[in-house]
Amino acid sequence: MKDFYHIPVLAEQVIHGLQPHAGGKYIDCTLGGGGHSSLILESAKDIQLLGLDCDDKALRAAKERLSKYGENFQSKRLNFRDLKDLKKDECWNQVDGILMDIGVSSHHLDEASRGFTYRENGPLDMRMDRRLKVTASMILNKESLEGLTKIFRDYGEMKEAYRLAKAIVADRDKELFTHTEQLAGLADRVCVNRNRRKRNPAPTLAFQALRIAVNDELGALESGMAAAFDLLKPGGRLAVISFHSLEDRMVKEFFKEKAVACDCPPDIPVCVCGRSPQMKIITRKPLTAESGELEENTRSACAKLRVAEKI
Ligand SMILES: C[S@@+](CC[C@H](N)C(=O)[O-])C[C@H]1O[C@@H](n2cnc3c(N)ncnc32)[C@H](O)[C@@H]1O
Repeated sequence: MKDFYHIPVLAEQVIHGLQPHAGGKYIDCTLGGGGHSSLILESAKDIQLLGLDCDDKALRAAKERLSKYGENFQSKRLNFRDLKDLKKDECWNQVDGILMDIGVSSHHLDEASRGFTYRENGPLDMRMDRRLKVTASMILNKESLEGLTKIFRDYGEMKEAYRLAKAIVADRDKELFTHTEQLAGLADRVCVNRNRRKRNPAPTLAFQALRIAVNDELGALESGMAAAFDLLKPGGRLAVISFHSLEDRMVKEFFKEKAVACDCPPDIPVCVCGRSPQMKIITRKPLTAESGELEENTRSACAKLRVAEKI
């Protein structure tokens, strides 16, 4: 499994934010190449860590890489949308810290056969968990015009969502969408994208949107954060790294909602809700990569880390 690699982003900030301590228990919900997990395991004595990933290939590679930590490292194939399942697990239902480094790994992006990239041609798959029934090509070939427009608009924030969706519906009558170069070529042709030379040209946004839909990434994040809060001990910390504004907004809102002391209407003179804050926000603003990291790892450019502590 030597071909699976991923440079962990915001590594120092993650350790500083989680503050792992000797004998503590931690869950890494997105094991990937095992980079952050290995840093957490190294950060203090006798740390116990459970690493999760929904991708079997990532899990196998990380297991091999982290086997040197013996019983201090455990792993499980689980989508963090189902993190609440750990409530029943006495070993992992009260932990000191939880990390989510969401999205795809460098391996996903570099492996054409997984369909996440259009740098090389490959099948339009995009499933992180290959047990999922619906692939990107199925969505492109079967979803309605309205459904496709919504995907490109909501998940890709594309101004030309309708135009692209309409072109897909017209094209698929002639030839089904099976390969990444078909979608990338079409997005490039039909979107009069003034961003072509910027970081996010139309094909990039279209691929991002479709990937989010295939893996229901936002739904998983919402359920995952709620369950993570339940699994933390008081004083335990949740650290979330996101890579685009949709996710970052969700993390910010989740932390804000948990940190609110009183949600009575402003015109009520005395608090009647009796609510007290459930979390303390540690990072008022998201932490981002510094210049050294940006030079070494271009992927870090979009990464934002937010940390909050359970009260
Ligand atoms: C950005 S990579 C994590 C890299 C890792 N932090 C490291 O240092 O190597 C994200 C990983 O999380 C996995 N993943 C994404 N969404 C997931 C989910 N909802 N449940 C479980 N794993 C998920 C992906 O398969 C991928 O391997």
